[in-house]
Amino acid sequence: MVMSGESPDQDTADRPGELTAGVQPYYAHHAGSLAERYESVSFEAVHGDVLDLLPPPPARAADIGAGTGRDAAALARRGYDVLAVEPVPELRQVAQRLHPIPSVSWTEGSLPELRSLSGPLDLILLSAVWMHLAPADRSPAMGRLAGLLAPSGILVISLRRGEPPTDRVMYDVPAEEVVSLGETAGLHIVRVAENDTDSLGRDAIWWQSVVLRREAQ
Ligand SMILES: C[S@@+](CC[C@H](N)C(=O)[O-])C[C@H]1O[C@@H](n2cnc3c(N)ncnc32)[C@H](O)[C@@H]1O
Repeated sequence: MVMSGESPDQDTADRPGELTAGVQPYYAHHAGSLAERYESVSFEAVHGDVLDLLPPPPARAADIGAGTGRDAAALARRGYDVLAVEPVPELRQVAQRLHPIPSVSWTEGSLPELRSLSGPLDLILLSAVWMHLAPADRSPAMGRLAGLLAPSGILVISLRRGEPPTDRVMYDVPAEEVVSLGETAGLHIVRVAENDTDSLGRDAIWWQSVVLRREAQ
């Protein structure tokens, strides 16, 4: 079941964990300025390296850690039925104001549990989210994502690389680790794309995009 609206259901709310302590205050406090930054670039500019691998719409997609909704809205415009999952209420509010699109359903939820979400999903996108996951949460998160994918479903994980900032919990996670976790969860590597420039123009930040596929059945 997918929840929409702003009240977490006791049965579907994810445990707060490290998100609350290390990330939520940052995103809650900066929601307005982050919206300007995130919305200053297009989905196509950010994810151009993997666009050819997206499943053909109409299809069911989820944007996990959807932030201010740039990618969820773009996927909806491309013809997907989109579940936008975002744990920080302040970001969800900005996103829903900026992108009032009927084919995007907003829900509260966070990795690794994502209890509010159910599959099967043809496309799951994590854009600049995996860097916030503690090492112990990564394997359960990958297992959960793999379980949500439909046969032949695609998982796209973009990784911010470089020295992490110190004002929020963040890790520099290499693509090799994500690929290995994906393979352990039964997924197959499709592509690792490298982009040595940051679309937001920041120094010393570069990106990798990992694309994994669940086997057809
Ligand atoms: C850098 S922002 C990226 C937002 C958006 N995906 C984009 O590309 O513009 C990171 C996002 O991940 C979310 N996030 C952090 N930890 C998360 C978790 N454990 N599960 C789901 N989302 C999480 C944050 O709330 C935030 O919206």
